[in-house]
Amino acid sequence: MTRLFRRPCGKAPSWSFFAFWLLCSLALADRPPAVAVASAHPLATEAGLEILRQGGNAFDAAVAVSAALAVVEPYGSGLGGGGFWLLHRAADGREVMIDGRERAPLAAGRDLYLDDGGEVVPRLSIDGPLAAAIPGEPAALAHIARRYGLLPLERSLAPAIRLAREGFEVDEHYRRMAAWRLEVIRRYPKTAAIFLDEGEVPQLGHRIVQPELARTLERLAKAGREGFYDGPVARRLVASVRAAGGIWSLEDLRQYRVVERKPVVGHFAGHRIVSASPPSSGGVVLVEMLNMLTEAGWRSLQGVDRVHLLVEVMRRAYLDRARYLGDPDQVEMPLDRLLSREHALRWVATIDPHHATPSSVLAEPEPEGTDTTHFSILDAEGNRVAATLSINYPFGSGFVAGGTGVLLNDEMDDFSAKPGVPNVYGLVGGEANAIAPGKRMLSSMTPTFIESSERVAILGTPGGSRIITMVLLAVLEAVEGQPVAQWVSRPRFHHQYLPDQMQLEPGALTEPVKEELGRRGHHLRQLDRSWGNMQAIHWDRRTGRVSAASDPRGAGSASTVAVENLH
Ligand code: DON
Repeated sequence: MTRLFRRPCGKAPSWSFFAFWLLCSLALADRPPAVAVASAHPLATEAGLEILRQGGNAFDAAVAVSAALAVVEPYGSGLGGGGFWLLHRAADGREVMIDGRERAPLAAGRDLYLDDGGEVVPRLSIDGPLAAAIPGEPAALAHIARRYGLLPLERSLAPAIRLAREGFEVDEHYRRMAAWRLEVIRRYPKTAAIFLDEGEVPQLGHRIVQPELARTLERLAKAGREGFYDGPVARRLVASVRAAGGIWSLEDLRQYRVVERKPVVGHFAGHRIVSASPPSSGGVVLVEMLNMLTEAGWRSLQGVDRVHLLVEVMRRAYLDRARYLGDPDQVEMPLDRLLSREHALRWVATIDPHHATPSSVLAEPEPEGTDTTHFSILDAEGNRVAATLSINYPFGSGFVAGGTGVLLNDEMDDFSAKPGVPNVYGLVGGEANAIAPGKRMLSSMTPTFIESSERVAILGTPGGSRIITMVLLAVLEAVEGQPVAQWVSRPRFHHQYLPDQMQLEPGALTEPVKEELGRRGHHLRQLDRSWGNMQAIHWDRRTGRVSAASDPRGAGSASTVAVENLH
């Protein structure tokens, strides 16, 4: 206990000694026998374990894994992006979501991506520095280390600095992502010099070395938040963005702050669900779907009937997403109502068990109107982290700010550029998610904990708009007692209200099930690519076993180490 927490239980004043003693005893009685790290890259998983071995807690390890991913998974997340870190502190049960989501620049207005005729200019919110919002990840890492960690930032960032300086080897996944974004990477010579090999997608085993990123990480390590948002790094970021047509200012960087938010909490099948709150839509949509499943009696349904119910539930919750959700600091959201049992009951009453409800006719039944990455960590004390981080599209905006090595996000595309016009994930939105200065764009990232007397689960995944339905399907596997490998590997299907289609991974459903869904009026869209890269940890409290799994669709790794072998 004393080793892992800054305020050791033993130093409590005498008047509260008993309470502390009780808390300490409870915490001691509820410790996992092993630590676990699951992330989208073996080198990032190793960085997390390295920090746990050095005596860091799950929060220090989260800093190390985030920073390592920023180096070795440049297409997925990074210092130029943001994310949500869901934390559970075992000592006092504190649950908090660190909101390190990007913010719109102060010079951004609602029509930023519209032409003179009021039409959305294609790709303006996806490629290049005008697509980049003000990053949150550096501030979040400094905050997590200072507020929740045991080690100095220099220690937890050391593995990432080493990886940036010494380089890492290109794998198949890197090649696929680079090929996908080749055109925009080539457009920016600084990006191409780092991430390509003589203008081409590097061969397997080619080393990506990032000395400038190493220096930026070092400044962050030494000076904390100010090392990025002030001084030479900030000046370089702004100068470089502006020179290439962007609208950042030094004031944007100076103003950026992480926000500690209360997670969304729900209950499902005897489990407590803790998940991301706005500005992510993840937790709200997930809990809404789970509430509807409960009210519709999902457990008694099997086969095609269960799939039909799941799709109808997804459709309705995503409608609420499009209509209501946005940045909690700038829009009023009826969260209590959306998360209520009554709301679920009203939605369930509109579900026809034999026919798909066309999204176009779906009106809310209320009287009133109005490449990303995930990792999961469990430490020896039972501290937990589920973090989903993003620069949005693979390789973000494709723009590396001169002299910093920082690849900037294109998260501005997560705003609704114009009501009814879909973004790159086909999501539509309205007023609640319109662009405004300093506003955080709505996200689908859904880092989640599941907890009951039987188990603790830590999970999440990248995958744009499909993130929330992937987490939903995994929650069902978890509460039905399936092994963690099944949560991350199970075939997936998805519906997001608009477009009105049920998307299917290869092999997701049998032909007879598909035929029956077609007869019920579902528009099936069979995709030839799979999606997601889920990283999950399961601590089975009944058997005392800790297991972890990394999605076989990705190139990640999941490791557990028995506590007695850690040091
Ligand atoms: O915040 C969001 O919802 C998106 N920017 C996430 C993007 C993503 O997952 C891309 N990965 N496949």
